[in-house]
Amino acid sequence: MESLIPVISKLQDVFATIGYREAEVQLPQIVVVGSQSAGKSSVIEGIVGRDFLPRGTGIVTRRPLLLHLIHVPLDDAKRNTNPLFKTGDWAQFEHLPDEIFTDFEKVREEIENETNRLSGSNKGISVEPINLKIFSAKVVNLSLIDLPGITKVPVGDQPADIEATIRDMIYSYISNPNSLILAVTPANQDFATSEPLKLAKEVDKEGNRTLCVLTKLDLMDHGTDAMDVLMGKLVPVKLGIIGVVNRSQADIKSNKTIEECLKDEVTFLHKKYPTMASKNGIQFLAKTLNRLLMHHIRECLPQLKLRVGTLAAQCQSLLHSYGEAVVDKNRTLLQIITHFANAYTSTIDGTAKNIETSELC
Ligand code: GDP
Ligand code: NA
Ligand code: MG
Repeated sequence: MESLIPVISKLQDVFATIGYREAEVQLPQIVVVGSQSAGKSSVIEGIVGRDFLPRGTGIVTRRPLLLHLIHVPLDDAKRNTNPLFKTGDWAQFEHLPDEIFTDFEKVREEIENETNRLSGSNKGISVEPINLKIFSAKVVNLSLIDLPGITKVPVGDQPADIEATIRDMIYSYISNPNSLILAVTPANQDFATSEPLKLAKEVDKEGNRTLCVLTKLDLMDHGTDAMDVLMGKLVPVKLGIIGVVNRSQADIKSNKTIEECLKDEVTFLHKKYPTMASKNGIQFLAKTLNRLLMHHIRECLPQLKLRVGTLAAQCQSLLHSYGEAVVDKNRTLLQIITHFANAYTSTIDGTAKNIETSELC
């Protein structure tokens, strides 16, 4: 099953190359939804295993961030030949196609700059997404979308209708049936009134594509625990409720690494929730997401097959509309040779690219 995602990506590339935009394969994407400071960006960082997203108290994420994680094998040839890649992971922004980022502090800065470019520096938001690709041996193939948090009261330069704007933005991502919804709720808030779960229910009535993440397990009041919530006794969530401990603001300040935090999370879970430790935590969340993604793709396959079939039929009838096949074989051959010779000459000149795939079809 692991090989399905690269296959779908390849299909997507092919469709894009030959210009069949309407037939593009939509990869299931994971959309992270929750109130402001619930820990959405932190959850994404935990899954990626990298410290690169702007996070903190208040409204930090102010543009949708479309994050595409791309798994590359450790011995990827590129890394061995290019000293840039020896250090490990790298990142690339769609708006800066020629730049390769290996310093993730710079990635964070660029997200912040790009956010400010369109949303201003005073808490404004923009619906225009930032596209970021991260290449790493440590990730599974996932597309994640980090969204601004659900907010009620406008601050700074935010317009009065900020709540509706953000809601519409969230709806536009979660109503896509190809999205898996990650409803992020902090454990120190009332789970029964979880806003993201309410939103998710509106677009996913059956709950077939909603997973809940309970953050801040470490910040619960002394003497309380999340046992009932995690077991789904309070509000059941079909795909599950996964408890996590992200980095605290203090951890961020003291530069505690994500690796250390993941270790501490495991220790915390074993101490506080010994019977449920293996079914919670960031690592388990990442595994679960990958499994759901595979499942989702498998469910999309019949539909995809249908679409490809329709396209093939369309091409066939287009071909027929051009009339009978040419009988004069010599002339056709001559044309092909001329075409090839032209392309060959211009390649030697170094001026033209290869003959486009679409021309050959
Ligand atoms: P977002 O607004 O939903 O993206 O939330 P952020 O990821 O920016 O997190 C908001 C703040 O809460 C940051 O200071 C995080 O360090 C902190 N935080 C997030 N998750 C946890 C957690 O599980 N435990 C603790 N102690 N702090 C957390
Ligand atoms: Na925040
Ligand atoms: Mg955020």
